[in-house]
Formats: sequence, structure tokens, C-alpha cells
Amino acid sequence: MTAKVIDGKAFAANVRGQVATHVARLKADHGIQPGLAVVLVGEDPASKVYVKNKHASTIEVGMNSFEHRLPAETGEAELLALIDQLNADPAVHGILVQLPLPGHLNSELVINRIDPAKDVDGFHISNVGLLGTGQKSMVPCTPLGCLMMLRDHHGKLAGLNAVVVGRSNIVGKPMAQLLLGDSCTVTIAHSRTKDLAEVCRRADILVAAVGRPEMITGDMVRPGATVIDVGINRIERDGKAKLVGDVHYESAAVVAGAITPVPGGVGPMTIACLLANTLTACCRANGLAEPEGLTA
Ligand code: GUN
Repeated sequence: MTAKVIDGKAFAANVRGQVATHVARLKADHGIQPGLAVVLVGEDPASKVYVKNKHASTIEVGMNSFEHRLPAETGEAELLALIDQLNADPAVHGILVQLPLPGHLNSELVINRIDPAKDVDGFHISNVGLLGTGQKSMVPCTPLGCLMMLRDHHGKLAGLNAVVVGRSNIVGKPMAQLLLGDSCTVTIAHSRTKDLAEVCRRADILVAAVGRPEMITGDMVRPGATVIDVGINRIERDGKAKLVGDVHYESAAVVAGAITPVPGGVGPMTIACLLANTLTACCRANGLAEPEGLTA
């Protein structure tokens, strides 16, 4: 058996298309244009690429993009003042502070300064608490993208055994909350879980988000399971730079029922969900109905 490949690139293009349609309608019917502000502090090369891609995608769906690039030595007070200014700006519906921040800045303090209603990353402690208690919140983009693909593939997720490998605040923990919200039986495993292979083999849905290249191998996958690979690891093989996931694709794909590839799986969904969250934030800010199918 060979798994169905879940095409995240096509899925993300579809989500961006839906967002663009909603944005056009907001403009035509209400004269409203959603706006996303992205703050980049310093010169981290990977972060610069992410921010550039976010800007291009934001413009492409018809939203306003506000980019704020600050020097690496920017002080905390200055950064907090910028966030206050964006919180107060009615043209800004979403605020994203690109992580990681330079070492002298306290990320938690900075993130928690963002108005939770504009926190399109879903990292503010209020949004974490709202998600954990099953209330309406802003949901982190990567797990939201995974949930959308899982719902599309399975229809209802209720009763399925889900194993999330990885316990990060950005992916593992919110992913587990979202799967619980859809009535899965959820296990959070991690690099120190005892007999990880046996735990993984119980999964109807296996989400790999540990950040270890090709750690999840085919023998750890239940036949027919859906495997979602959140990992993006740059490795060198045979003298060549290569991008691999947390799943050993070749061995997992012959056992799984469905699998996301790397690249072209979860990755493209993250920016698409950032745009979906910005649209959702804009609708909420204006007392309008939320876009269907684009929220948790
Ligand atoms: N850096 C890497 N991933 C992310 C993300 O999802 N959000 C933010 N703000 N920074 C990141």
C-alpha cells in the first residue's frame, strides 16, 4: 500500500483563494480592508525570508501589509511602544512579531503586550487560556493548518486516537488542544516518551512536531494512519543540502493511509492560516460573521 499524499501546497492555495474572496467582499460590502502588521527585529536570514513571503502573500489576497523592520539593538521600551501603536491603530487587525527575537528582548513580555484580539499567532497567554478552555480564541497558524487538512481528509475526527509527538507551545500543545476540541483521544508524546514507537502505533492520526530529522520511521506508524509531518529540518546528505521532515517519508509512506510531504505539506499552510486569522480578527473587530471553514 502507498499512502495518499496530502498536497499542502494546493490546499494552501485554496485557503488563500477563499481568504481573497472574503477580502474582496469585505471591501465591496463594507469598505473594510483587513491589515496585517509584521514586526521584524534584527537580521536573522531565515526570519527575513519568512517576513518577505508573508508580505507578498498578504498583498496577494488584497490585504494591507504593514512591515516594521527594526535594528537588532532595538530596546525593549521602543519595541513595546511600537506594539502599543499597532494595538491602537484601527487599520491594523493582525500583529505578528517574528520570532526568535534577539537575546536581550523578553519574548513573553513582548508577545503578551499584543492586543489578544490582534494576536494572529495565537501566542498571547489569553489566547492560550481561551483555547485550553474551549473558548473562542486566535489559534496558532501551524496547528490550525494541520487541523484543516485533517478535517478535509477524515470529515469528522471524533473518537479517533491522535498522537502528537512534540510539546512546544507553538505546535504540539495547541495541536493537542485542537484535536481534543474535535473529540479525539489525544496523547502528547515527546523525545523522552517511554517506548515511543509503541505509543505512535496506537495513532489513527500521528502528528510529528519534534524537530528531529526523520525520527518517526515506518515501523512506528499504524497501517492506514494519517501522518502529519510538521518538521522542517535542513540536513546534508551525500554532500547536498536537503530539507526533510520529522518523519522518515519513504518508510512511513508505504504504511500510512495518508501523509503530508516535506516540503509541500504543512509548510505552505502556515502563511495561509496567518491570512485566515487576520481575516477572522478583522471580521470580529467589525462585528461581522466569521469566515466559515477558516477557523477552528
Ligand atoms: N518564527 C518561526 N515560526 C514563527 C511563527 O509561527 N510565528 C512567529 N511570530 N515567528 C515565527
